[in-house]
Amino acid sequence: MIYVTIDGPAGSGKSSVSQNLAKKLGFEHLDTGALYRAAAFLWIHSKKDLKSEEFLKMMDNTSFNLTNNSALFVNGKRLGNEIRTPEVGKVVSKLAEVPQIREIITKKTREIADNKRIVVEGRDIGTVVLPNACVKIFLTASVNERACRRYEDYKSRGVDIQFEEVVKEIKFRDEMDSTRKVAPLKPAKNAIIFSTDGLTLEQVVSELYDLIVEKVKKC
Ligand code: CDP
Repeated sequence: MIYVTIDGPAGSGKSSVSQNLAKKLGFEHLDTGALYRAAAFLWIHSKKDLKSEEFLKMMDNTSFNLTNNSALFVNGKRLGNEIRTPEVGKVVSKLAEVPQIREIITKKTREIADNKRIVVEGRDIGTVVLPNACVKIFLTASVNERACRRYEDYKSRGVDIQFEEVVKEIKFRDEMDSTRKVAPLKPAKNAIIFSTDGLTLEQVVSELYDLIVEKVKKC
C-alpha cells in the first residue's frame, strides 16, 4: 500500500490536482470532501436533527464504494453534481464539525484506502486520517484565486451565483474548517506546502509528480 495525501482549503485545486496525479501515478483516487458533501446532501433531504441518533445511524449504515476507475458510489448510486451546489457548500462545514460524523467518515475512508496505492484528498488526511502516509502535500492559494476557480466551476455547470457570494462561501468555510475543535484544517508537520497561485494545473501536477516519485522511492 502507498498513501499520498493532499490536504488544503476550499478551491485550492485539490480535486483536479489529485485526480490528475493519481492518473499519472497509476493510483486510485478518493475525494473525502465528496463523502462530507454526500453526508450533507443526505442530511438536507433527511430533515433529521444533525446530531440525532437516527441521523448518525443512517450515516453509519451508508455505504461508500470506490470502483476501479475511482468513481464513488453512495448507497449504490453514483454521485454527481447534486453534491457540488452552493446549498450543500453552505452546510457542509457545519456537518463536518460534528465529531461523531467525522469519526464515521474517517473510519469509512480508512476502509476504502486500506491496502491500496491511492491519492486521498481532504482537510485532515495527513494529520488525522492517514498519519503514516508516505507523501503528504498541503495545497494553498490566495482567497481571490480560489474564489475565481470556484466561480468558473459554478458558471461552467450553469449555477447562477455572484462572484461576491463565492468569496463569502470560501471565507466562511476557511474559518469554519480551520477553527473547529476536531481535526481542523492545517498542514501535517511533515507535509510539503505547495502554493498553486499563478500556476496552471499542468504545472502543479508536473512539479508534484516529480516530488512524489522521489519520495515514494524511499517509502
Ligand atoms: O472542493 P472544496 O474545496 O469545496 O471542498 P471539499 O473538499 O468538497 O470539502 C467540502 C467540505 O467538507 C469542507 O469545507 C470541509 O468542511 C469538509 N471536509 C472535512 O472536514 N474533512 C475532509 N477530510 C474533507 C472535507
